[in-house]
Amino acid sequence: MLIKKPNRNDACWCGSNRKYKVCHEAFDAKIESFARKGAVTPTRDIIKTPEQIEKIKESCKINIAILDHLEQVVCEGMSTAEIDKIVHDMTFAAGAYPAPLGYEGYPYSVCTSVNNQICHGFPSEDVILKNGDIVNIDVSTILDGYYSDSSRMFCIGEVSEERKRLVRVTKECLEKGLEQVKPWGFLGDMGQAVHDHAYSNGYTIVREIGGHGVGLEFHEEPWVGYHTKKGTDMLLVPGMIFTIEPMVNAGGVEIEIDKENGWEVYTKDGSDSAQWEIMVLVTEDGAEVLCY
Ligand code: MF3
Ligand code: CO
Repeated sequence: MLIKKPNRNDACWCGSNRKYKVCHEAFDAKIESFARKGAVTPTRDIIKTPEQIEKIKESCKINIAILDHLEQVVCEGMSTAEIDKIVHDMTFAAGAYPAPLGYEGYPYSVCTSVNNQICHGFPSEDVILKNGDIVNIDVSTILDGYYSDSSRMFCIGEVSEERKRLVRVTKECLEKGLEQVKPWGFLGDMGQAVHDHAYSNGYTIVREIGGHGVGLEFHEEPWVGYHTKKGTDMLLVPGMIFTIEPMVNAGGVEIEIDKENGWEVYTKDGSDSAQWEIMVLVTEDGAEVLCY
């Protein structure tokens, strides 16, 4: 996209009502200087204004409340269809809309991915959570057109040490990644930190499906992978919001997509897979977790 450089005395593009020259001119020049050195730089449309960030945070509050509630009620014997109903009803009760519902034809309000299911698991009456299962519940909300997206792992009853370790290490991956998120750093700083923690623990990370920019749309630029190196991939600047959501496999990296519905993703070797997802804002001095 070509965005015209504003006149220095014009109002700034960020909506601050200040003149461009005293607002984002230096910021744009800094991004431009990285671009000249060959960096992949963010376009202006993915840099959120303070007003947009406030709206996105309101959406996040609902997403967090839904996951907090699920932590109280999800248990052995519950079907994943019941989880779908809870998410659906809580979202509408909050005056919001579940982002997955109807998204590219996705038929439910939430994704529930059990054990060897990697992601996009369909909630079902026939999937009854059993003692020892691990399940990822991925919730996404649209409030007044602003998107939030996060997911957590749920351990049902007594879970094996192997599964507990997978769930714990996957969460640690987010923490390691988050430590690397700062303005004028690179997305690859985060990606490599996530990657190295998983692989040094003997796990693999799915290559085909990653995180994403989020806020004004469900899935925006950048695409967020975990097989990129430190100092590479997109430049991070204040106002960017993206998810960190590695899908960590206990076994091989290969995936298999359900042929019937084209959505549900499984590990090819049947090994377990875990995922946690947070939404992160790049701030002036580091990062802020908006949704978890
Ligand atoms: N919530 C998923 C993500 O983290 C996206 C799911 S797409 C859907 O990006 F259609 F399955 F909801
Ligand atoms: Co996401």
